[in-house]
Amino acid sequence: MASSTTSHCLLVALFLLSSAANSQLTPSFYASSCPALEYVVSSAVNEAIAADRRMGASLLRLFFHDCFVQGCDASILLDDVGSFVGEKTAFPNVNSVRGYDVINKIKIDVEANCSGVVSCADIVALAARDGTVLLGGPNWDVPLGRRDSTTANLTQANSDLPSPGSDLSTLVTAFGNKGLSPRDLTALSGAHTIGFAQCNNFRDRIYNDSDIDTAFAEQLQANCSSASGSTNGNLAALDEQTQLVFDNAFYANLAARRGLLHSDQELFNGGSQDALVQDYSADNALFFADFAAAMINLGNISPLTGTDGQIRANCSVVN
Ligand code: HEM
Ligand SMILES: *[C@@H]1O[C@H](CO)[C@@H](O)[C@H](O)[C@H]1NC(C)=O
Ligand SMILES: *[C@@H]1O[C@H](CO)[C@@H](O)[C@H](O)[C@H]1NC(C)=O
Ligand SMILES: *[C@@H]1O[C@H](CO)[C@@H](O)[C@H](O)[C@H]1NC(C)=O
Ligand SMILES: *[C@@H]1O[C@H](CO)[C@@H](O)[C@H](O)[C@H]1NC(C)=O
Ligand SMILES: *[C@@H]1O[C@H](CO)[C@@H](O)[C@H](O)[C@H]1NC(C)=O
Repeated sequence: MASSTTSHCLLVALFLLSSAANSQLTPSFYASSCPALEYVVSSAVNEAIAADRRMGASLLRLFFHDCFVQGCDASILLDDVGSFVGEKTAFPNVNSVRGYDVINKIKIDVEANCSGVVSCADIVALAARDGTVLLGGPNWDVPLGRRDSTTANLTQANSDLPSPGSDLSTLVTAFGNKGLSPRDLTALSGAHTIGFAQCNNFRDRIYNDSDIDTAFAEQLQANCSSASGSTNGNLAALDEQTQLVFDNAFYANLAARRGLLHSDQELFNGGSQDALVQDYSADNALFFADFAAAMINLGNISPLTGTDGQIRANCSVVN
């Protein structure tokens, strides 16, 4: 009896300790140290999107690829310098992730406004939210107070970022390993309402999948040949209907077997996520609310807080 009470108390204490790390993040973290932060970041994102609307999508993806590797710590931004090996050459990132220059530009603006206090990890989180909002998606208060890593992990970038050939159970496990639910997975995958993918990442889908609309596959085959070669980098929209507008059309595409990635179509293949895909397709407000909540969950993955890590002066290198 006494020992079970003791272990119960220990569990409660461990729970409080582990949730404390996340509760240290708060939208008001920079309210006194950098009151104009959100204005400075959104102005720069606005400018980047005016020059290249796709950048809104690219910044959103950058946040996902940061958070899934060592947590949301800006590890993805570190260059390979000297003997230091970063994550930029990992298979899911190389020749694919965009927006590093935009983040570096925002950092310069932020440093000019309030020097040495704002992390690159928080800039990435804010830029992802701003990209979403500026392309027509939901808004939410971004919990802040992350610090920047002094390390990166190429191996983990290769193992933990899901591949577009993944099946549903692999996706559920990959997100579960980061503390995210199947509902988070299906809501966050709605990010594929904006942006583009390269032929290399959907070739198998359009030549070898059975659960694909025939006309859709044929239309994509015109710009993506079955053999690897010069068409490898050709782009197609992740949401054929509205690739530069953040809406719920992605889910209607899935229901019509017109998902571009195999991994996307896995969310509507007769399995556990079909009903939710139909709910999101029918109810944009439900999708927006769940997406915002899931983005906060994504942003809570293992942040460095307090005195851990550092505030980088240059997002591309450790201090
Ligand atoms: C569920 C597992 C996921 C897989 C397998 C996956 C895979 C991919 C792939 C293969 C691309 C195209 C990359 C290229 O061809 O260069 C892509 C693009 C993109 N992904 Fe995902 N993704 C997943 C989840 C997410 C999540 C959770 C987000 C954000 C919350 C996200 C946001 C994006 C965006 C916005 C783009 C377009 C980027 C651009 O146009 O620059 N993805 N994804
Ligand atoms: C920071 O930016 C805000 C908004 O543009 C401006 O009002 C403020 O003067 C700036 N502060 C510094 C130190 O540049
Ligand atoms: C990098 O990630 C791998 C896979 O998650 C892990 O086994 C390894 O310990 C990590 N390396 C470092 C130095 O943290
Ligand atoms: C389709 O699948 C077959 C059998 O697995 C494979 O040999 C072929 O290379 C695949 N083709 C494409 C375009 O992926
Ligand atoms: C074919 O790929 C190119 C290169 O990415 C792209 O600019 C173009 O829009 C694509 N054409 C079609 C019809 O999808
Ligand atoms: C940041 O560091 C990189 C080294 O990877 C360097 O090329 C770049 O010029 C630096 N940026 C600034 C603003 O100092």
